[in-house]
Amino acid sequence: MSTFDPTKPSTTESGEPRGSDAHSLSLGPDGPLLLHDVALVQKLARFDRERVPERSPHAKGSGAFGEFVVTGDVSKYTKADFLQPGKTTRVLHRFSTVAGELGSPDTWRDVRGFAVRFYTEEGNFDMVGNNTPVFFLRDPMKFPDFIHSQKRLPDSGLRDATMQWDFWTLSPETAHQVAYLMGERGLPRTWRHMNGYSSHTYMWVNAEGEKFWVKYHFLSDQGVENITNDEAAKLAGEDADFHRRDLFESIKKGDFPSWTLHVQIMPYEDAKNYRFNPFDLTKVWPFKDYPRIEVGKLTLNENPTNHFAQIEQAAFSPSNTVPGTGVSPDKMLLARVFSYPDAQRNRIGTNYNQIPVNAPVCPVNSYDKEGAMQYHHSGDAPVYAPNSFGRAYQDDQGPVENGWEADGTMVRAAYTLHAEDDDWGQAHTLVRDVYNDDQRAALVETVAGSLAGVEDPVLSRVFEYWRNIDTEVGDAIEAAVRAG
Ligand code: HEM
Repeated sequence: MSTFDPTKPSTTESGEPRGSDAHSLSLGPDGPLLLHDVALVQKLARFDRERVPERSPHAKGSGAFGEFVVTGDVSKYTKADFLQPGKTTRVLHRFSTVAGELGSPDTWRDVRGFAVRFYTEEGNFDMVGNNTPVFFLRDPMKFPDFIHSQKRLPDSGLRDATMQWDFWTLSPETAHQVAYLMGERGLPRTWRHMNGYSSHTYMWVNAEGEKFWVKYHFLSDQGVENITNDEAAKLAGEDADFHRRDLFESIKKGDFPSWTLHVQIMPYEDAKNYRFNPFDLTKVWPFKDYPRIEVGKLTLNENPTNHFAQIEQAAFSPSNTVPGTGVSPDKMLLARVFSYPDAQRNRIGTNYNQIPVNAPVCPVNSYDKEGAMQYHHSGDAPVYAPNSFGRAYQDDQGPVENGWEADGTMVRAAYTLHAEDDDWGQAHTLVRDVYNDDQRAALVETVAGSLAGVEDPVLSRVFEYWRNIDTEVGDAIEAAVRAG
């Protein structure tokens, strides 16, 4: 709720009463406007600058605040304070689509972003995941090309199925994620009815310094529900903000959505010889190898009071880790650690970590300084380290506690293959063993429907791509397209 006193006048930004919110200053009632009308000039100048650049991917989204309560005991795997038994931590959660721009419909088929910030007493911990356990790529060099193929054509500014299928079929590592996206989970009913996954493998470190590999799975307590292509198209036309509205209204009426966080834990040494490369983002770890372990419950119970300040300006990043957690040799993840803060310095400004939604709840003592819009500062304390005047200086040396071993010649190369690594195997398992007959039929219909306007050579390559995943499904897609 607003705390403004209704008896006090509106003011300019420097605090002077505005005089009028309705009339500009003119020379006589019909005369020209005067440049020194600060109230008008300031209002228009600020209006002209209201938009910050939208996020490059994941532009359309929304979110809410809530809490995470630890219900399990994973203390033997991590010493992270916010993951210790019984602990409660405030969270910010943003959901999004990937390809669409700020105003695009929530119900277009797409992967959904699932970004959670934990405001822990040891600093912000961000889990910036998706509603899919895998991703299209395994090397970050391809990520901008992938996003370009999802966005718009250079000449017409239109989205284009040929561009999407061209990229996917020339990059066979996309098969698993494409099979997921074209399945029913590519159209979640609401954000409340979808799961969230870290997708990547991360690291946990316990109090004894033992390391583990970990994947996060947030399972919807509302259950997973999806909508059909027809429902999605209708909703996109009727209410482009369907998912945003659903979340806001649910929370407003006290129907708080929640997710139960589970993790899969892999002992550190297993990674070397596991049957799949555990750092390959296009692969899952089958539950029979690494079962899910319950950690806690995340509940969203507080709507933003200002969407722009708290959601649009939120800056999530996989680089935000806390003691007891860390990243992994996943090349995509390592690149993301650079890319997010870099994007945010550009999108929001160099001091984006100082604004309330991004500021950690623990004290910050950083020698980084100045730049546009600095708000918090270190006063007259020394601005360099080491110094003789009592401001912190650290110099931990030797192996870092959340690191791993690496050596070799510098190369540009694919990951070393593990015994069962290939591009098609897990996609086939999804389509043949996880999807039932109805789901496979819907998949065929969705893919065939998405191919309108796609011509050879891309079209033939799409049929081959699907035959590589599953011969029967590939044949059925070709038959459906040819039948037209
Ligand atoms: C090399 C690969 C990737 C790069 C370079 C990349 C880059 C980016 C960038 C620049 C943003 C906008 C950040 C901002 O302006 O605040 C973003 C947003 C996002 N990305 Fe990625 N991304 C990559 C892969 C992924 C993967 C694999 C996932 C999920 C597992 C993911 C999930 C998200 C989400 C959820 C957001 C929106 C966060 C929010 O709600 O503010 N990205 N990405």
